[in-house]
Parts: sequence; C-alpha cells; structure tokens
Amino acid sequence: MKGVVFTELVNMIEDQFGLEVLDEVIENANLESGGAYTAVGDYPDSEIYSILAELGKITGLNTKQMLAAYSGCFFSMLNLTYTNFFKKHDCALKFLASLDDYIHPEALKLYPGAKVPGFKPNWVNDNELELVYTSERKMGDLARGLIDQTISHYKEEVVVSETHLEKDGSKIKYTLVKS
Ligand code: HEM
Repeated sequence: MKGVVFTELVNMIEDQFGLEVLDEVIENANLESGGAYTAVGDYPDSEIYSILAELGKITGLNTKQMLAAYSGCFFSMLNLTYTNFFKKHDCALKFLASLDDYIHPEALKLYPGAKVPGFKPNWVNDNELELVYTSERKMGDLARGLIDQTISHYKEEVVVSETHLEKDGSKIKYTLVKS
C-alpha cells in the first residue's frame, strides 16, 4: 500500500489522540517500516491493520469504526490535494462512476506502482448507480466511508446499500439511489 494512505492515518491519530498515543501505537504495532512513511513509498498492507488493532486497544473502537473515521481524513486530504478531480463532476454519482476510468488511473500516474481497487459502474437509470468494488485488500469499510464522504461533499441525498458478492469481502456491490 502506498505511503500516502499511512501518512494520513498517522496524522489522524496524532490530531485526534495526541502524540503520546501515536508513539504508543507505533511502538506496540511492531512495524517493519518502524512507522516512518513517505507518500510514494510502498509498505505492507498488514501495517494498517496492526496500527488499527493497537489504536483499538487504546480507544475501544473496532476496525470498522476506525476506518469510517479514517475515511473522513483521507477524503479531506484528497479533496484538498485533488480539487480539480472533484470540480470535473457536478454530482456524487457521476464522480464515483468515473473512479475506474479516470480518477484511479490518474492516481496511478501520481503514485506509480499503486494497486488501486476496481469500482465497475453500472447506471441503472439517471438516479441509480451500481458500483462493484473489487480488491484483494478487502477494504470495503474504507470504500463505504469514502462513498459516504463523497455524497456529503456534493451535499446530496443518496441512499447507499451494499451486497457482498464474495463472502471474504473482496467483491462488494454498492447501490446508490439519488432522491
Ligand atoms: C481524488 C480522488 C482519489 C485519489 C487520488 C485516489 C487515490 C488512491 C491511492 C493512491 C490509493 C492507494 C493504492 C495503493 O496504495 O496501492 C487508493 C486506494 C483506495 N481508494 Fe482511492 N483515490 C481517490 C478517490 C477514491 C474514492 C472516492 C474512493 C471510494 C469510493 C476510493 C476508494 C479507494 C479504496 C477503497 C482504496 C484502498 C485500497 C483497496 O481497497 O484496494 N478512492 N486510492
């Protein structure tokens, strides 16, 4: 996983829980990287879960709750850094439908070697979009958090439902209905 994902996580822990908690988490997580990340570097995916597990011990939150909180920070960074990507589309559904053929391919240019997830779009009608998330990383909770953040960003009313197409979480269909 690219370091940009980790740098945002580390920032969030420091901002929300303080430097002492961050130091404790990094020390107890026993990270191969030692917890020093650069945005374009590559690090084992497992470090995210080790960090979240340690943070969970301190905060009492589960991984799903922490990924939901983290998606807010990750989204704010994306929104600030890549404002133009968001300006290209005037609604959440159109933006999300462009993840596969525009957003993540652009991200690949910025972060060479990234392994971005698939988000195959299928328009049911103008107000209903199905997005099929596919990733061996099985980060559906982060995906759902980022979808919810995108909807809030565009200030829209959209009902999201999810269906696990693979039991292990590697393939999830999100159905988005705009009212
Ligand atoms: C400006 C917008 C965006 C940029 C530049 C961007 C870029 C990236 C990058 C660089 C990664 C790391 C991949 C790796 O380390 O190999 C990533 C992962 C990810 N992105 Fe995006 N992203 C954007 C928007 C979104 C949105 C809106 C969603 C959700 C609907 C999303 C869902 C995900 C998920 C779930 C992952 C985790 C990896 C996985 O599940 O396999 N991204 N993205």
